[in-house]
Amino acid sequence: MEEKIVNLEKEARGRIEGVKTVKELEELRIYYLGRKSFINQLFSALPDLEKEKKAYLGKLLNSAKKKITEWIERKEREFEEKEEIIDFTLPASKLNLGKRHIIGQVMEEICKIFKRLGFQIVEGGEIEDEWHNFSALNIPLEHPSRDVFDTFYLDIPPSEGGRYLLRSHTSPSQIRVMEKRTPPLAVISPGRVYRPDNPDASHSFMFHQIEGFCVDKEINFSHLKGVLYHFAWEFFSSQIELRFRPHYFPFTEPSAEVDISCIICGGKGLKDGGKCSVCKGKGWLEILGCGMIHPEVLKNCGINPKKFRGFAFGMGVERIAMLKYRIADIRLFFENDLRFLNQFG
Ligand code: PHE
Repeated sequence: MEEKIVNLEKEARGRIEGVKTVKELEELRIYYLGRKSFINQLFSALPDLEKEKKAYLGKLLNSAKKKITEWIERKEREFEEKEEIIDFTLPASKLNLGKRHIIGQVMEEICKIFKRLGFQIVEGGEIEDEWHNFSALNIPLEHPSRDVFDTFYLDIPPSEGGRYLLRSHTSPSQIRVMEKRTPPLAVISPGRVYRPDNPDASHSFMFHQIEGFCVDKEINFSHLKGVLYHFAWEFFSSQIELRFRPHYFPFTEPSAEVDISCIICGGKGLKDGGKCSVCKGKGWLEILGCGMIHPEVLKNCGINPKKFRGFAFGMGVERIAMLKYRIADIRLFFENDLRFLNQFG
């Protein structure tokens, strides 16, 4: 009996050493230590033996069991270190597939509409100088948006174009493109803009805009209207009405703010027997600013305003996404709560 146990130990040691996979190791564990193993069978036979023999054999068996267990555990650790413990029978862990952020999706959708109309996409930089963000756009020194409280100026040495800042709108893209290229031009320029606003349901210190502009010999306000109608019909619905409200921007003349008829109440201002909550009963929702590019701005870029004219518009992407998807708080876009983000796309 003693010899049998010693042989079993030897055999087990060799086999455990030679094991190549976790599965094989598990099979050996069952074979040597499992309920029906030789060792276990001997254990169950112990009570029937004489006292002395019982003690002696019991010791032997216990020592064999301990050794085999140790060898198996050592092998397990080896596998672990080599990261070879791959249990193919376990259910796979859930793969969290990412997707584009809702703002990225909306920007892409808007850009695609203008691309089909022949607009080219040009991305500008987020760091601008005062010339491109303000002066070239006819924004005078005393304009409040140039104030340090309204703009993120950067603490680095200024350039020829003045102090550096985080652009407060995408309109500098107009200047950048017109300085370098000659008309005809039809360009769309999406990107981030920065204003030191305190965050609340409708304000964020960083948000996205899409600038669009077109410069050519015969461009007039009806081209602007046509392009914006096309956009509103494609993006919202073909039932949408537009309203051009006279407005003032230093870099366009004439200028307008554009409203769409409310997408919830259809412009009636009423919903379910009460005031429409989205347009607050007004029937209209503001979506962008626009106008004919000011002759001074063309001149600043070396384009002769006697020969060329252009229109320009700029829209806030978050605002448009909020209207389309009825999102009540702009902060939701930037909190990165997957329960919110996963609802889109
Ligand atoms: N840049 C303006 C803003 O940020 C929007 C605008 C762009 C208005 C182009 C007219 C023309 O408010």
